[in-house]
Amino acid sequence: MNQPVAHDVARPRWQAPTPREHRNYPYNCWWVAASSAELGRELLGRWLLDTPVLLYRRESGEAVAIENRCPHRAAPLSLGCLKGDNVQCGYHGFTFAPDGACVNVPSTGAGLPAARIRAFPVIEQAPFVWIYLGDPDCIDQVPPPHDLEWARDDSFRYVHGMMPIKANYMLLKENVLDLTHFGYVHAKSFGISDWVDPPRSTTQGDTTSYHQSFDRSPLPPVFAAPLGLAPGTAYNRENYGSFVSPALQIAAVDFVEPDSGTITGRFRVSHATTPIDASRMLYFYVIGRDHGTSPEEMDGLLKGSETGFAEDEAMIEAVQDMVLCDPRGAGAPEISVKADAPGIQARRIVERWMARESG
Ligand code: FES
Ligand SMILES: [Fe+2]
Repeated sequence: MNQPVAHDVARPRWQAPTPREHRNYPYNCWWVAASSAELGRELLGRWLLDTPVLLYRRESGEAVAIENRCPHRAAPLSLGCLKGDNVQCGYHGFTFAPDGACVNVPSTGAGLPAARIRAFPVIEQAPFVWIYLGDPDCIDQVPPPHDLEWARDDSFRYVHGMMPIKANYMLLKENVLDLTHFGYVHAKSFGISDWVDPPRSTTQGDTTSYHQSFDRSPLPPVFAAPLGLAPGTAYNRENYGSFVSPALQIAAVDFVEPDSGTITGRFRVSHATTPIDASRMLYFYVIGRDHGTSPEEMDGLLKGSETGFAEDEAMIEAVQDMVLCDPRGAGAPEISVKADAPGIQARRIVERWMARESG
Protein backbone atom coordinates (compact mmCIF):
# COMPACT_ATOMS: atom_id res chain seq x y z
CA MET A 1 0.00 0.00 0.00
CA ASN A 2 1.34 3.43 -0.90
CA GLN A 3 1.54 6.04 1.79
CA PRO A 4 -0.09 9.42 1.09
CA VAL A 5 2.25 11.78 -0.72
CA ALA A 6 3.34 14.64 1.52
CA HIS A 7 2.02 18.07 0.60
CA ASP A 8 4.17 21.08 -0.01
CA VAL A 9 4.31 23.41 2.97
CA ALA A 10 4.17 26.85 1.36
CA ARG A 11 0.69 26.93 -0.13
CA PRO A 12 -2.36 29.15 0.02
CA ARG A 13 -5.45 28.14 1.96
CA TRP A 14 -7.29 25.37 0.12
CA GLN A 15 -10.49 26.25 -1.72
CA ALA A 16 -12.96 23.85 -3.32
CA PRO A 17 -12.83 24.19 -7.13
CA THR A 18 -16.63 24.25 -7.28
CA PRO A 19 -18.92 26.24 -4.98
CA ARG A 20 -20.99 24.24 -2.50
CA GLU A 21 -24.31 25.12 -4.17
CA HIS A 22 -23.25 23.57 -7.49
CA ARG A 23 -22.39 20.12 -6.25
CA ASN A 24 -23.46 17.26 -3.97
CA TYR A 25 -20.02 15.67 -3.52
CA PRO A 26 -17.57 16.42 -0.74
CA TYR A 27 -13.93 17.07 -1.54
CA ASN A 28 -12.77 15.98 1.89
CA CYS A 29 -13.23 12.29 1.11
CA TRP A 30 -11.17 9.53 -0.49
CA TRP A 31 -12.44 8.73 -3.99
CA VAL A 32 -11.42 6.08 -6.51
CA ALA A 33 -9.20 7.66 -9.17
CA ALA A 34 -8.50 4.52 -11.18
CA SER A 35 -8.29 0.78 -10.95
CA SER A 36 -4.83 -0.57 -10.23
CA ALA A 37 -4.81 -2.23 -13.64
CA GLU A 38 -5.37 1.07 -15.42
CA LEU A 39 -2.19 2.66 -14.09
CA GLY A 40 1.19 2.06 -15.64
CA ARG A 41 3.98 4.00 -17.32
CA GLU A 42 1.48 5.64 -19.68
CA LEU A 43 0.09 9.05 -18.73
CA LEU A 44 -3.59 8.88 -17.80
CA GLY A 45 -5.48 12.18 -17.65
CA ARG A 46 -9.00 12.42 -16.27
CA TRP A 47 -11.29 14.92 -14.61
CA LEU A 48 -12.25 14.02 -11.04
CA LEU A 49 -14.47 16.32 -8.97
CA ASP A 50 -13.99 19.21 -11.39
CA THR A 51 -10.23 18.80 -11.11
CA PRO A 52 -7.87 17.85 -13.96
CA VAL A 53 -5.79 14.94 -12.66
CA LEU A 54 -2.81 13.17 -14.20
CA LEU A 55 -2.11 9.63 -13.05
CA TYR A 56 0.88 7.38 -13.67
CA ARG A 57 3.35 5.11 -11.92
CA ARG A 58 6.93 5.91 -10.93
CA GLU A 59 9.62 3.56 -12.17
CA SER A 60 9.31 1.88 -8.75
CA GLY A 61 5.63 1.19 -9.49
CA GLU A 62 4.27 3.67 -6.95
CA ALA A 63 1.14 5.52 -8.09
CA VAL A 64 1.37 9.29 -8.65
CA ALA A 65 -1.43 11.87 -9.02
CA ILE A 66 -0.68 15.48 -9.94
CA GLU A 67 -2.60 18.29 -11.56
CA ASN A 68 -3.09 17.67 -15.29
CA ARG A 69 -2.97 21.35 -16.26
CA CYS A 70 0.37 22.88 -17.16
CA PRO A 71 0.68 26.24 -15.35
CA HIS A 72 2.46 27.73 -18.38
CA ARG A 73 -0.30 27.74 -21.05
CA ALA A 74 -2.83 25.21 -19.75
CA ALA A 75 -1.78 22.24 -21.87
CA PRO A 76 -2.94 18.89 -20.47
CA LEU A 77 0.22 17.25 -19.13
CA SER A 78 -1.26 13.91 -20.22
CA LEU A 79 -0.24 14.97 -23.78
CA GLY A 80 3.39 15.05 -22.66
CA CYS A 81 5.71 12.20 -21.75
CA LEU A 82 7.49 10.61 -18.83
CA LYS A 83 11.18 11.31 -18.24
CA GLY A 84 12.00 8.85 -15.51
CA ASP A 85 9.62 9.73 -12.69
CA ASN A 86 9.04 13.27 -14.03
CA VAL A 87 6.49 14.50 -16.57
CA GLN A 88 7.52 16.72 -19.47
CA CYS A 89 4.80 18.94 -20.91
CA GLY A 90 4.16 18.24 -24.59
CA TYR A 91 3.84 21.94 -25.48
CA HIS A 92 7.04 23.79 -24.42
CA GLY A 93 8.72 21.16 -22.31
CA PHE A 94 8.28 22.40 -18.73
CA THR A 95 9.03 19.38 -16.54
CA PHE A 96 7.35 18.43 -13.27
CA ALA A 97 8.35 16.06 -10.49
CA PRO A 98 5.86 13.72 -8.75
CA ASP A 99 5.58 16.22 -5.89
CA GLY A 100 4.41 18.92 -8.35
CA ALA A 101 7.65 20.93 -8.41
CA CYS A 102 8.62 22.42 -11.78
CA VAL A 103 12.15 21.08 -12.10
CA ASN A 104 13.04 22.35 -15.57
CA VAL A 105 12.03 25.04 -18.07
CA PRO A 106 13.94 24.29 -21.27
CA SER A 107 14.13 27.93 -22.40
CA THR A 108 15.86 28.91 -19.13
CA GLY A 109 17.64 25.68 -18.32
CA ALA A 110 16.42 25.80 -14.70
CA GLY A 111 13.48 24.87 -12.49
CA LEU A 112 10.79 27.43 -11.68
CA PRO A 113 9.41 27.34 -8.11
CA ALA A 114 6.43 29.55 -9.01
CA ALA A 115 5.27 26.96 -11.55
CA ARG A 116 4.57 24.29 -8.94
CA ILE A 117 1.38 22.27 -9.52
CA ARG A 118 -0.66 20.33 -6.99
CA ALA A 119 0.27 16.81 -6.03
CA PHE A 120 -2.58 14.75 -4.63
CA PRO A 121 -2.30 12.11 -1.92
CA VAL A 122 -2.94 8.61 -3.27
CA ILE A 123 -3.40 5.26 -1.58
CA GLU A 124 -3.36 2.07 -3.59
CA GLN A 125 -5.33 -0.83 -2.21
CA ALA A 126 -5.82 -3.17 -5.14
CA PRO A 127 -8.02 -3.25 -7.06
CA PHE A 128 -8.41 0.52 -6.54
CA VAL A 129 -6.16 3.58 -6.50
CA TRP A 130 -7.74 6.15 -4.19
CA ILE A 131 -7.19 9.90 -4.34
CA TYR A 132 -7.76 12.76 -1.91
CA LEU A 133 -8.61 16.04 -3.67
CA GLY A 134 -9.75 18.01 -0.64
CA ASP A 135 -8.32 20.33 1.97
CA PRO A 136 -4.87 18.99 2.96
CA ASP A 137 -5.45 20.24 6.49
CA CYS A 138 -8.48 17.96 6.86
CA ILE A 139 -7.06 14.72 5.49
CA ASP A 140 -6.52 13.23 8.94
CA GLN A 141 -10.16 13.84 9.83
CA VAL A 142 -11.73 11.82 7.01
CA PRO A 143 -12.20 8.04 7.09
CA PRO A 144 -9.51 6.13 5.17
CA PRO A 145 -10.46 4.26 2.00
CA HIS A 146 -12.61 1.22 2.65
CA ASP A 147 -10.59 -1.98 2.37
CA LEU A 148 -12.13 -4.69 0.17
CA GLU A 149 -10.90 -7.55 2.36
CA TRP A 150 -12.59 -10.23 0.31
CA ALA A 151 -10.56 -9.19 -2.76
CA ARG A 152 -7.42 -10.39 -0.92
CA ASP A 153 -9.01 -13.69 0.05
CA ASP A 154 -7.38 -16.42 -2.05
CA SER A 155 -10.64 -18.32 -2.34
CA PHE A 156 -12.11 -15.43 -4.34
CA ARG A 157 -11.58 -14.42 -7.94
CA TYR A 158 -12.79 -11.09 -9.24
CA VAL A 159 -13.34 -9.13 -12.43
CA HIS A 160 -13.61 -5.38 -12.70
CA GLY A 161 -14.20 -2.50 -15.08
CA MET A 162 -14.99 1.17 -15.43
CA MET A 163 -17.89 2.86 -17.17
CA PRO A 164 -18.24 6.62 -17.73
CA ILE A 165 -21.88 7.59 -17.12
CA LYS A 166 -23.50 10.91 -18.02
CA ALA A 167 -25.32 11.35 -14.74
CA ASN A 168 -24.82 12.62 -11.22
CA TYR A 169 -23.00 10.02 -9.14
CA MET A 170 -25.81 9.75 -6.58
CA LEU A 171 -28.17 8.35 -9.21
CA LEU A 172 -25.95 5.27 -9.35
CA LYS A 173 -25.74 5.12 -5.56
CA GLU A 174 -29.52 5.19 -5.26
CA ASN A 175 -29.80 2.60 -8.04
CA VAL A 176 -27.72 0.07 -6.12
CA LEU A 177 -29.52 0.84 -2.86
CA ASP A 178 -32.97 0.02 -4.29
CA LEU A 179 -32.74 -3.40 -5.89
CA THR A 180 -36.47 -3.61 -6.59
CA HIS A 181 -35.31 -2.41 -10.03
CA PHE A 182 -33.95 -5.91 -10.78
CA GLY A 183 -37.26 -7.21 -12.09
CA TYR A 184 -37.66 -4.33 -14.54
CA VAL A 185 -34.32 -2.89 -15.66
CA HIS A 186 -32.65 -6.32 -15.71
CA ALA A 187 -35.64 -8.51 -16.55
CA LYS A 188 -33.88 -9.88 -19.65
CA SER A 189 -30.31 -10.05 -18.32
CA PHE A 190 -29.96 -11.00 -14.65
CA GLY A 191 -33.44 -12.55 -14.52
CA ILE A 192 -33.73 -11.95 -10.77
CA SER A 193 -37.48 -11.59 -10.36
CA ASP A 194 -37.95 -12.29 -6.65
CA TRP A 195 -36.67 -8.95 -5.28
CA VAL A 196 -40.11 -7.42 -4.67
CA ASP A 197 -40.35 -6.59 -0.97
CA PRO A 198 -38.44 -3.66 0.53
CA PRO A 199 -35.35 -4.87 2.42
CA ARG A 200 -34.67 -4.38 6.10
CA SER A 201 -32.60 -1.24 6.43
CA THR A 202 -30.47 0.22 9.20
CA THR A 203 -28.31 3.30 9.56
CA GLN A 204 -25.39 3.58 11.95
CA GLY A 205 -23.45 6.82 11.90
CA ASP A 206 -22.62 7.55 8.28
CA THR A 207 -23.24 4.02 7.03
CA THR A 208 -26.62 2.90 5.78
CA SER A 209 -27.26 -0.77 5.06
CA TYR A 210 -29.93 -3.11 3.73
CA HIS A 211 -30.52 -6.82 4.15
CA GLN A 212 -32.87 -9.03 2.17
CA SER A 213 -33.41 -12.72 2.93
CA PHE A 214 -34.74 -15.08 0.28
CA ASP A 215 -35.99 -18.39 1.70
CA ARG A 216 -36.22 -21.39 -0.60
CA SER A 217 -36.56 -19.07 -3.55
CA PRO A 218 -35.93 -20.45 -7.07
CA LEU A 219 -32.35 -19.65 -8.07
CA PRO A 220 -32.13 -17.56 -11.22
CA PRO A 221 -29.77 -19.05 -13.84
CA VAL A 222 -27.18 -16.31 -13.22
CA PHE A 223 -26.71 -17.62 -9.65
CA ALA A 224 -27.46 -21.32 -10.19
CA ALA A 225 -24.86 -22.11 -12.87
CA PRO A 226 -21.75 -21.03 -10.88
CA LEU A 227 -23.01 -23.05 -7.90
CA GLY A 228 -23.38 -26.13 -10.14
CA LEU A 229 -27.14 -26.21 -9.50
CA ALA A 230 -30.11 -26.35 -11.86
CA PRO A 231 -31.88 -23.03 -12.48
CA GLY A 232 -34.99 -22.84 -10.32
CA THR A 233 -33.50 -24.87 -7.45
CA ALA A 234 -35.11 -23.75 -4.19
CA TYR A 235 -32.30 -22.09 -2.26
CA ASN A 236 -31.70 -19.50 0.43
CA ARG A 237 -29.91 -16.22 -0.28
CA GLU A 238 -28.82 -13.54 2.14
CA ASN A 239 -28.38 -10.34 0.16
CA TYR A 240 -26.96 -7.33 1.97
CA GLY A 241 -25.02 -4.18 1.31
CA SER A 242 -23.87 -0.86 2.68
CA PHE A 243 -23.25 2.69 1.58
CA VAL A 244 -19.90 3.10 3.31
CA SER A 245 -18.95 6.54 2.00
CA PRO A 246 -20.02 8.89 -0.81
CA ALA A 247 -17.38 7.08 -2.86
CA LEU A 248 -18.31 3.46 -2.29
CA GLN A 249 -21.17 1.02 -1.92
CA ILE A 250 -20.50 -2.63 -1.15
CA ALA A 251 -22.89 -5.53 -1.70
CA ALA A 252 -22.91 -9.25 -0.95
CA VAL A 253 -24.90 -12.40 -1.54
CA ASP A 254 -24.36 -15.51 0.56
CA PHE A 255 -25.92 -18.66 -0.90
CA VAL A 256 -27.18 -21.00 1.79
CA GLU A 257 -28.17 -24.64 1.41
CA PRO A 258 -31.69 -24.58 2.92
CA ASP A 259 -31.64 -27.87 4.84
CA SER A 260 -28.16 -27.69 6.37
CA GLY A 261 -27.84 -23.90 6.64
CA THR A 262 -24.36 -24.18 5.10
CA ILE A 263 -23.03 -21.27 3.08
CA THR A 264 -22.06 -22.84 -0.26
CA GLY A 265 -21.07 -19.72 -2.14
CA ARG A 266 -20.22 -16.08 -1.56
CA PHE A 267 -20.70 -13.33 -4.14
CA ARG A 268 -19.42 -9.76 -3.70
CA VAL A 269 -19.82 -6.53 -5.65
CA SER A 270 -18.30 -3.11 -5.01
CA HIS A 271 -19.68 -0.03 -6.71
CA ALA A 272 -17.33 2.96 -6.60
CA THR A 273 -18.57 6.16 -8.19
CA THR A 274 -16.38 9.22 -8.66
CA PRO A 275 -17.97 12.44 -9.94
CA ILE A 276 -16.34 14.01 -12.97
CA ASP A 277 -18.64 16.96 -12.33
CA ALA A 278 -22.24 17.43 -11.18
CA SER A 279 -23.72 15.58 -14.17
CA ARG A 280 -21.09 12.96 -15.05
CA MET A 281 -19.33 10.17 -13.18
CA LEU A 282 -16.85 7.35 -13.53
CA TYR A 283 -18.35 4.08 -12.31
CA PHE A 284 -15.73 1.56 -11.12
CA TYR A 285 -17.07 -1.91 -10.36
CA VAL A 286 -15.49 -5.02 -8.90
CA ILE A 287 -17.37 -8.32 -8.93
CA GLY A 288 -16.07 -11.44 -7.22
CA ARG A 289 -17.08 -14.83 -5.94
CA ASP A 290 -15.59 -17.92 -4.36
CA HIS A 291 -17.32 -20.46 -6.61
CA GLY A 292 -17.50 -20.84 -10.38
CA THR A 293 -14.03 -19.29 -10.60
CA SER A 294 -12.60 -20.85 -13.77
CA PRO A 295 -11.30 -18.27 -16.29
CA GLU A 296 -14.20 -19.03 -18.62
CA GLU A 297 -16.76 -18.60 -15.86
CA MET A 298 -15.17 -15.34 -14.67
CA ASP A 299 -15.17 -14.07 -18.23
CA GLY A 300 -18.87 -14.91 -18.40
CA LEU A 301 -19.39 -13.07 -15.09
CA LEU A 302 -17.73 -9.94 -16.49
CA LYS A 303 -19.65 -10.01 -19.77
CA GLY A 304 -22.98 -10.64 -18.02
CA SER A 305 -22.30 -7.86 -15.51
CA GLU A 306 -21.36 -5.42 -18.28
CA THR A 307 -24.66 -6.17 -20.00
CA GLY A 308 -26.58 -5.52 -16.80
CA PHE A 309 -24.64 -2.39 -15.87
CA ALA A 310 -25.26 -0.98 -19.36
CA GLU A 311 -28.97 -1.35 -18.62
CA ASP A 312 -28.48 0.67 -15.43
CA GLU A 313 -26.46 3.23 -17.36
CA ALA A 314 -29.24 3.75 -19.93
CA MET A 315 -31.87 4.23 -17.22
CA ILE A 316 -29.72 6.51 -15.06
CA GLU A 317 -28.76 8.71 -18.00
CA ALA A 318 -32.45 8.97 -18.97
CA VAL A 319 -33.28 10.05 -15.40
CA GLN A 320 -30.48 12.62 -15.49
CA ASP A 321 -31.81 14.00 -18.80
CA MET A 322 -35.29 14.25 -17.31
CA VAL A 323 -34.03 16.22 -14.31
CA LEU A 324 -31.83 18.48 -16.45
CA CYS A 325 -34.53 19.26 -19.03
CA ASP A 326 -37.35 19.81 -16.55
CA PRO A 327 -37.30 23.52 -15.63
CA ARG A 328 -38.13 22.56 -12.05
CA GLY A 329 -34.82 20.66 -11.89
CA ALA A 330 -34.07 18.68 -8.76
CA GLY A 331 -36.82 20.67 -6.99
CA ALA A 332 -39.59 18.78 -8.82
CA PRO A 333 -41.82 16.76 -6.47
CA GLU A 334 -40.77 13.19 -5.83
CA ILE A 335 -42.71 10.33 -4.27
CA SER A 336 -40.80 7.81 -2.18
CA VAL A 337 -41.81 4.40 -0.80
CA LYS A 338 -40.34 2.13 1.83
CA ALA A 339 -37.88 0.56 -0.61
CA ASP A 340 -36.27 4.00 -1.01
CA ALA A 341 -35.26 4.17 2.65
CA PRO A 342 -31.56 3.27 2.12
CA GLY A 343 -31.29 5.74 -0.78
CA ILE A 344 -32.90 8.54 1.25
CA GLN A 345 -30.53 7.78 4.12
CA ALA A 346 -27.59 7.95 1.70
CA ARG A 347 -28.67 11.43 0.61
CA ARG A 348 -28.77 12.54 4.24
CA ILE A 349 -25.35 11.05 4.89
CA VAL A 350 -23.92 12.95 1.92
CA GLU A 351 -25.48 16.15 3.28
CA ARG A 352 -23.64 15.52 6.56
CA TRP A 353 -20.35 15.05 4.72
CA MET A 354 -20.98 18.34 2.91
CA ALA A 355 -21.91 20.15 6.10
CA ARG A 356 -18.72 18.99 7.81
CA GLU A 357 -16.68 20.29 4.90
CA SER A 358 -18.43 23.66 4.93
CA GLY A 359 -18.13 23.94 8.69
S1 FES B 1 1.96 24.76 -21.87
FE1 FES B 1 3.22 23.39 -20.85
S2 FES B 1 5.20 24.07 -21.24
FE2 FES B 1 3.95 25.51 -22.26
FE1 LIG C 1 -29.04 -2.51 -11.70
